Amino acid sequence: MDALELYIPKPEDLWFRQQMLSDPDTMSYNRDWDVSYPGYHRDTGCIDFPPAKWTEWYSAMIGQTPKRFYAYIQRSSDGAWLGDVCFHYTPEKDWWDMGIVLYAPYRGRGYAVPALKLLLDQAFRVYGISRIHNDFEIARGEISAWETHRRAGFRELGRENGFLEMMITKEDYFREHGTDLPEIETQRLTMRPFVPADSAGLQEILGDAETMRFSEPAYTPEKTAKFLNSFLIRRRSGVAVVCKQSGKLIGYILFHPLDKSIYELGWFFHRDYWRQGFAYEACQAIIRYGFQELRIHKIVSETIDLQKSIGLMKKLGMQPEGVSPVFDPNGRPAQLYCYCLYRPESTPG
Ligand SMILES: CC(C)(COP(=O)(O)OP(=O)(O)OC[C@H]1O[C@@H](n2cnc3c(N)ncnc32)[C@H](O)[C@@H]1OP(=O)(O)O)[C@@H](O)C(=O)NCCC(=O)NCCS
Repeated sequence: MDALELYIPKPEDLWFRQQMLSDPDTMSYNRDWDVSYPGYHRDTGCIDFPPAKWTEWYSAMIGQTPKRFYAYIQRSSDGAWLGDVCFHYTPEKDWWDMGIVLYAPYRGRGYAVPALKLLLDQAFRVYGISRIHNDFEIARGEISAWETHRRAGFRELGRENGFLEMMITKEDYFREHGTDLPEIETQRLTMRPFVPADSAGLQEILGDAETMRFSEPAYTPEKTAKFLNSFLIRRRSGVAVVCKQSGKLIGYILFHPLDKSIYELGWFFHRDYWRQGFAYEACQAIIRYGFQELRIHKIVSETIDLQKSIGLMKKLGMQPEGVSPVFDPNGRPAQLYCYCLYRPESTPG
């Protein structure tokens, strides 16, 4: 699946919004509303958005967070804009209403749920807002829109005046996606959330070709900064492993939910610190926290590295679960080994 990100448009990028709003295939969902305002075309659902309106619209919509948020959905691989997402505060209900539109040529490719999740991530993690609402006119039978919202974590609130009301709260979201781990200490290590200042330390790890040999080409500093920001900080999908004695960042542990109770565990440690038991010490503590505090029931890991990573998985007590053919980062055929660990019945808590 293509990675997506949110992009806040610049004033000169608004041609894309204009293109979407004037495309009858994209706007058909907006047809036949019993309203009339200048620029609304009831027959197609399209809305005029000429450049003369851009400046006013821009100052009302951009830079108004958390009252209002607007962004394009951007495909990371080629920067293509695929649609837009937005939310705004509705004071009479004390909730945020939202919208998502995928440009018609990009529909049916599985982009909606990841795009919704990016929006929720932004809303709950970055802006800390409390709840997001959306509604759908039942007569329009927008089944795919309900379904994508449901899959992104929205609950059905009820049906009123011909509308299906859906809602997701910050608590719902964190229950489903949150890996807001507290600081965890072991004898020699501290595991803590990543912060922007970790960029250079993380680059020492992810920029090293030998460390990355079994996963991806070594990261450039730009790629590391982007990964740190969007994946590790915004999505809290990994923790920083810091040496207590020196304060140095020596590792990165990926720990994120694949499902409510199944987490993926992964690791990248600084090559100067290999073979000193640090990865084992850190992973053991994370696993303990996952089973005891988060009450998850399964942890999975996968690798093509038969020696180091499988050795670590075995030492952590993980069991082989399956093998599938993949290509290594150089495009050569390889085997991906999947290992897992179930919560022991005796786990306290
Ligand atoms: C895998 C990695 C995290 C291990 O880190 P580490 O701190 O050196 O691991 P530890 O010292 O805690 O070792 C734990 C166990 O892993 C296994 N292991 C680690 N390095 C090994 C090696 N070079 N050869 C054989 N087994 C090894 C051993 O079973 C070891 O236990 P032991 O020392 O009692 O024999 C580290 O080598 C690394 O960052 N590798 C590159 C990143 C990577 O490939 N990530 C996975 C992508 S899928």
